[in-house]
Amino acid sequence: MKDLNEFSRISLAVLPTPVQRLENISRLLGTNVWIKRDDMTGVGLGGNKVRKLEFLLAEARDQGAQVVFTTGGAQSNHAMLTAACAKKLGMTPILILKKRGVTACRGNLLLEKLMGTDVRFLDTDDYQDIYDEMDRVGQAMGLPYYKIPCGGSNPVGALGYVACAREIAEGGVPFQHIVCAEGSGGTHAGLALGAKLFLPRTQVTGMMVDTDPFEVITLDIMRRTAALLQADVSLGPGDIHLRDMCGPGYAIPSPEGMAAVRLMAENEGLFLDPVYTGKAFAGLLAMAREGAFRPTDNVLFLFSGGAGGIFAADLADGI
Ligand SMILES: Cc1ncc(COP(=O)(O)O)c(C=O)c1O
Repeated sequence: MKDLNEFSRISLAVLPTPVQRLENISRLLGTNVWIKRDDMTGVGLGGNKVRKLEFLLAEARDQGAQVVFTTGGAQSNHAMLTAACAKKLGMTPILILKKRGVTACRGNLLLEKLMGTDVRFLDTDDYQDIYDEMDRVGQAMGLPYYKIPCGGSNPVGALGYVACAREIAEGGVPFQHIVCAEGSGGTHAGLALGAKLFLPRTQVTGMMVDTDPFEVITLDIMRRTAALLQADVSLGPGDIHLRDMCGPGYAIPSPEGMAAVRLMAENEGLFLDPVYTGKAFAGLLAMAREGAFRPTDNVLFLFSGGAGGIFAADLADGI
């Protein structure tokens, strides 16, 4: 197997991110709940995408790219962080976003405006239309460009979360469970593959916040990432643990998600977001209710960022 250090990587994140025990929530749930502070990765408002971008933007740089395209929903945290990291590295980000959700200049769109980012919208439900548009725009500009898929969820991006699993293993706490949000699959796939390699006794559960076929998507990214690493592991559906926490739809707050946001804020002074981490933490609470965790277990929740989303939608009604 290749070592992670053999891959091109640009240091963008402040690592390792802290792992903290949530004292009050542990007491409430009767188990040991810990939080991995990937909301503190140190670029923009923090978040999981910075880990992926360390590998993706290194590949872009190695290919001589001057322009970096990416996409996502109108309030994509990934798109905002791609813009922030690309700007830091002197590359020009161009975001071609789906014209869905909150398109007013709020939340992540406001942050993109502050960074002077070129943001465009395409009225489509098919990402292929957007990737084609990236090629049209890139070729018309005549500059070398690099395309990052939605969520940075390809094998190169997923390496960031294989590395995160290694970081968790090096921290020394024996976790029985890791729980993360799942929006495009790369974070879960990287963590699950990393767990297979470095944390063989840990189950990783992806809390789905969208309606895509994540059983297939996650396993596919895991397998292709394992191939990139030349890792000798056999992977199958049994390696994927998922739970549907989407509720009324992607980027639409759910009552369970908002209750989880409130619980975390009231007990720990931490602010989850309504689109990803609130719904994911609601999934962890549901697992606790169902008796999935023993009193002696250590359960790690990945706080993957998303603060921009708190300021995008009008959440006052949901609270
Ligand atoms: C805050 C936050 N958490 C979790 C995720 C999910 O990660 P992934 O897209 O790798 O499934 C995202 C993705 O957009 C995100 O922005």
